[in-house]
Amino acid sequence: MNALVVTESIQNDELLIIEELINRLKGKFNTIEQEKFADECLLVGQELPYRLRKLLNDFRNRRMNDGYLLLRGFPIDDEAIGRTPSHWDASWINPRILREEIFQCLISSCTGDIFGWLTQENGRYLRHIVPIEKDKNEQLGGSSNVVLLWHVEEAFHPQRADLMSIMCYRNEEKACTNICAVSDLDIPDQYWEILSQKRFFIEPDKSHMQENNESKHWQLNEEHFKKIHAFLENPEPVSVLNGIRGQENLLVDEAFMDALPGDEEAKKALKWLFNHMNERNNPIMMGPGDLLLIDNRMTAHGRSPYVPNYGPKARWLRRVNITADLRKSYQWKDKPYGRVIF
Ligand SMILES: [Fe+2]
Repeated sequence: MNALVVTESIQNDELLIIEELINRLKGKFNTIEQEKFADECLLVGQELPYRLRKLLNDFRNRRMNDGYLLLRGFPIDDEAIGRTPSHWDASWINPRILREEIFQCLISSCTGDIFGWLTQENGRYLRHIVPIEKDKNEQLGGSSNVVLLWHVEEAFHPQRADLMSIMCYRNEEKACTNICAVSDLDIPDQYWEILSQKRFFIEPDKSHMQENNESKHWQLNEEHFKKIHAFLENPEPVSVLNGIRGQENLLVDEAFMDALPGDEEAKKALKWLFNHMNERNNPIMMGPGDLLLIDNRMTAHGRSPYVPNYGPKARWLRRVNITADLRKSYQWKDKPYGRVIF
C-alpha cells in the first residue's frame, strides 16, 4: 500500500528545529485560531530546515509530478493529546494539542496561507474530522458507513483552496484516505474533450449548510448563508478539466455535481471518469503524526468506509485549507488580506 504516494520522513535533526519553533509560537499564542497566529506562523515557518522548505516549495509550485505528499515522522504522544472529541464542535482552545496544531500550521504555511470559511464552522482554520454517529451515512467528514466520494474541497466555490493538509492524530480503525490526482488518469480523447467543456454544475456540499453549523461556541444566522443559497439556486456551468492537456486542473465533487440537464453525453463522460478514478485510487492509511498535503487544484480525495470506535480513541484527523494568494479572494472578505471567506 502507498507505493505510489511520495513519502518523506522528517529527520531527527529537523525535528529538533521544529520543536524549537513550536515552543516559540506556544510562548506567544494559546490557540492557532487567530489571524495574528497565522501571520506569525508564516514568518516563523521560514526558519524551518532548508530541506523541508525546498520540498514544500517544490510541492506548492507543482515541480513534483504528484498532487499529494505524505510527510511522516512527527511523533505524537497518544496519552498527551487526550481524548478524541466527540464532535467537530470542539473547543477552539485545547492546550493538549497545541503542539500538533502548530506543527500542521507551520508545514501548511510553507505552501501558502491558511484560511477558513464563515459558513463552515464560523471560519475555523483547523477542523476536527471525527466520526459522528448521526452523520454516519452522510457525505460529511463525520461519516463512516459510506464511501466519502471523490471531491476537491469547496469545488463549488471560485475561491476554493489551492492546497490543503490533513494530519492524523489517531486512526486505530485503519480507515483509508483515498487520493487520485489528474496525473494518475489516462483519459481517452473523446472524454477529455467533453470533460474540458462547461457542461457540468457543482452545488455546495452539506458542510456549508446552516443545519450542519449548529454550535455551542458561536452562532450563525440565515443571513450568513445567503451566498451559499445563491450557489445552490444558480450553479454556474463548469468544466471538469481545465487547462492544457497534460497540465490540467481537476474539478470534481461526485456527490454534489452532475452534467447539465439533458446532456447525456456529458453524464456518460462523468460516470466514466469516476469509475476510472476508482481504478486509479491511491488509498493511504494514515497513522498518528502523518501529515498529508494535497494539491486541491489537481487532486481529489475521499475516504473508505470504516467501523468507528466512537469514544476517546476514535479516529481523529485535522484539516486546513491553504491558498496560494490571500488577496485573490478580496471580494469575498471584509478585508483584502483577511483569512475568512464570507
Ligand atoms: Fe474533504
